[in-house]
Amino acid sequence: MIVCVCHRVSDRDIEREVRHGCTTFEDLQDELRVATACGCCAECARDTFDAALACRPTVGETLAAKVARVIPIAPLGPVAPLAA
Ligand code: FES
Repeated sequence: MIVCVCHRVSDRDIEREVRHGCTTFEDLQDELRVATACGCCAECARDTFDAALACRPTVGETLAAKVARVIPIAPLGPVAPLAA
């Protein structure tokens, strides 16, 4: 999805920058120029950036821990037996 029309920046571009170590929105703007022209994309760009940051694993974090952090799963309650 295109996030910034002025600079042709997609959500994938933003996610790639985060994967490569970008940790602030200002650094993202320096790299991609997103939200630096008309500004219409600023909210969407920031939301996309924040979501990408939330999904980024921290150092030493396992994939399972990352999934549990990003997609919290409610504990299961008692399971009713299946009817025959
Ligand atoms: S759409 Fe991103 S600065 Fe205009």
